[in-house]
Amino acid sequence: MGRIAIFTDDPGWHGKQLRLAFDSLGYNSDFVSLTQCSFAIEQGRHPLVIPGFEQALPDAAFVRGVPGGSLEEVVIYLDILHALKVMGIPVYNDGYAIERSVDKGMTSFLLHNAGLPTPLTWVLRNRDDALAIAEDELKKGHLLISKPLFGSQGEGIRRLEKMTDLFWLKDSHGIYYLQRFVHCSGIGFSDNRVFVVNGQAVAAMRRRGKSWLNNVARGASCERIDLNDELATLAIKATSALAMDYAGVDIIQDKDGSYTVIEVNSIPAWKGLESVCNISVAQILADDLINRYLICHDIATTA
Ligand SMILES: Nc1ncnc2c1ncn2[C@@H]1O[C@H](COP(=O)(O)OP(=O)(O)O)[C@@H](O)[C@H]1O
Ligand SMILES: [Mg+2]
Repeated sequence: MGRIAIFTDDPGWHGKQLRLAFDSLGYNSDFVSLTQCSFAIEQGRHPLVIPGFEQALPDAAFVRGVPGGSLEEVVIYLDILHALKVMGIPVYNDGYAIERSVDKGMTSFLLHNAGLPTPLTWVLRNRDDALAIAEDELKKGHLLISKPLFGSQGEGIRRLEKMTDLFWLKDSHGIYYLQRFVHCSGIGFSDNRVFVVNGQAVAAMRRRGKSWLNNVARGASCERIDLNDELATLAIKATSALAMDYAGVDIIQDKDGSYTVIEVNSIPAWKGLESVCNISVAQILADDLINRYLICHDIATTA
């Protein structure tokens, strides 16, 4: 039986689903925390220390979580993922995809650079410049969102609505990430989450927030939607701009009906999505990883 390392500090429901899916394909999986991994660069052994994989490295790694920490800690966690890839072990999504998407500034740049619609965004260090941008946007009648560069699940996101809000405009570890607020179409607050795997949109839902923050972790409810071509194509292009095997893409439809990409998640959750779609996301992901990186690869190398 093959062996998969699932990197996570909190296996939970997603870990269990993945384990079952890999099991159905003939692969055992072990949960491993990146905090427990290290390098041992010595003669006569492989240089990666991954608990449970002392005798042999895994056949592949699935990344379900990268812990936060100091810059050095996070760099080492990503180094472990990069090193596995360098040693020929498939990493799903790989360290570079995770690096690009965890950094909201890089995500915004790459989306824009690929010619995809994404809100006006400023990423900068200087407080006076940040204040000047925010003031200018408010004067023009726009609302502004301030996000932590490395945030997720809606954490630390604030909306600047009036000049007095500028008093508490705060940096996140020295960086301001400011983005023009997009007013969504329809009644109330909502955005779309599209799940893309290997260049195909496999499922989508509408998330209806209690306020403008439409994260499921913030209490948004999930509704099934049928994917239209425009939404699917945009999500696929966004995933490709970030070079990911799979992604959860956040897309808002604005008041004029145009779609704009907010975020491309490289470690998306799928419990909410599965509650409204009749698919097994874990199985789709496991099938894609095994077929594309292990089985097809074996066929190619033995041919
Ligand atoms: N520019 C924006 N305009 C309108 N709503 C936004 C904007 N940016 C974020 N949001 C809302 O906040 C949510 C979280 O933002 P997002 O950038 O996806 O960060 P996170 O990584 O925390 O999910 C989005 O799903 C959306 O509902
Ligand atoms: Mg998001």
